[in-house]
Amino acid sequence: MNRGFWDNLKKPIIGLAPMDGVTDPAFRYMVASVSKPAVMFTEFVNVEGLARGVEKMLPAFFYSAKERPVVAQLFGTETDSFYKAAVMLCYLGFDGIDINMGCPVSKIASKGAGAALIKNPKLAKKIIKSVYKGINDFANGISLENAGVHENIISFVKKNKDMFGGKNGVVAKNSDRKLIPLSVKTRIGYDEICAEQWAKLLISFGVKTLTMHGRTLKQLYSGEANWEVLGNVAKICKENDVMFFANGDISSLEDAHEKIKKYGCDGVLIGRATNGNPWFFEGKEPSLEDRLNVIKKHVKYFEKLSYLPFQTLKKHLAWYTKGFDGAKEMRMSFMQAQSGKDVYDVIDEFSRKIK
Ligand SMILES: Cc1cc2nc3c(=O)[nH]c(=O)nc-3n(C[C@H](O)[C@H](O)[C@H](O)COP(=O)(O)O)c2cc1C
Repeated sequence: MNRGFWDNLKKPIIGLAPMDGVTDPAFRYMVASVSKPAVMFTEFVNVEGLARGVEKMLPAFFYSAKERPVVAQLFGTETDSFYKAAVMLCYLGFDGIDINMGCPVSKIASKGAGAALIKNPKLAKKIIKSVYKGINDFANGISLENAGVHENIISFVKKNKDMFGGKNGVVAKNSDRKLIPLSVKTRIGYDEICAEQWAKLLISFGVKTLTMHGRTLKQLYSGEANWEVLGNVAKICKENDVMFFANGDISSLEDAHEKIKKYGCDGVLIGRATNGNPWFFEGKEPSLEDRLNVIKKHVKYFEKLSYLPFQTLKKHLAWYTKGFDGAKEMRMSFMQAQSGKDVYDVIDEFSRKIK
């Protein structure tokens, strides 16, 4: 049970949290380009889908070398599927694997995955064991085929090798096989707070790096994250030599540093405060020029990746266009855009007007 790259990060550690539909490859690339966080996570991907060979799930794992260290996140309930996904993620050259035990969305939790695992520690333990087995087997030389990874997945990753970390991503040689660390991201409880008990259980299952969002499943995103509880979990983790990341409602880099100090955690993960704000980790307010350049770069990279419909970019465009004169008009024009070229045209026209 190694902690790999986590032990090499300079504390306090401020990372980009996983967000489904948000921390997609283009956004992660933008964040890494303008204000590098200490670590970043992919969106979560379903292990059962991967085990069935649904290759359209794989682009969520595209990453570029500049995002490192980058951790891939998985969710699901089938232990065998977790095993196969873990072997595949090792092959893809990720720096770590995170297991989602915190998603409150009913279509996921109702199937026993995500935050529902808080109520099913037996299964949580088995999942952790399976992922560790996948990591170990990979380091010991198992092939994707022998691990039972679906043939569609194998052929997709082999065809799209460069999309996973560029040249030094996909592990080609046996000598490059190494043990990568496992981590878990969860919540402070299901319908009631049970954070301390739950953290102790996870630690007893071999978790060496843990993130907790300071809300229960029942709360979804309502109310406020409970930082007192997160502070108690930080103490337990410290006593057990476990790295602890707290999460929830951090609004600025200054706020992040204050909370880390006050609640004694090793670091924090930042989610929603990065929406439209890839500059978060620099703590600087971007100029209008920076903003327009980032929009263009984001659109260009998104189109280069070309695996998602243009529509999915629009939430990012809407988040970027806030807080400057003319933002509302620009946002409205972006909502009509059908392609990157339309976005560029809107920006060019705006730039001409303000000259
Ligand atoms: C749109 C959205 C998608 C999310 N997707 C994931 C996910 O895929 N995996 C995960 O562990 N957490 C996910 N989360 C939870 C965040 O990682 C984080 O725990 C939560 O937003 C609280 O942090 P914040 O207040 O800094 O946003 C998501 C949150 C949002 C808002």
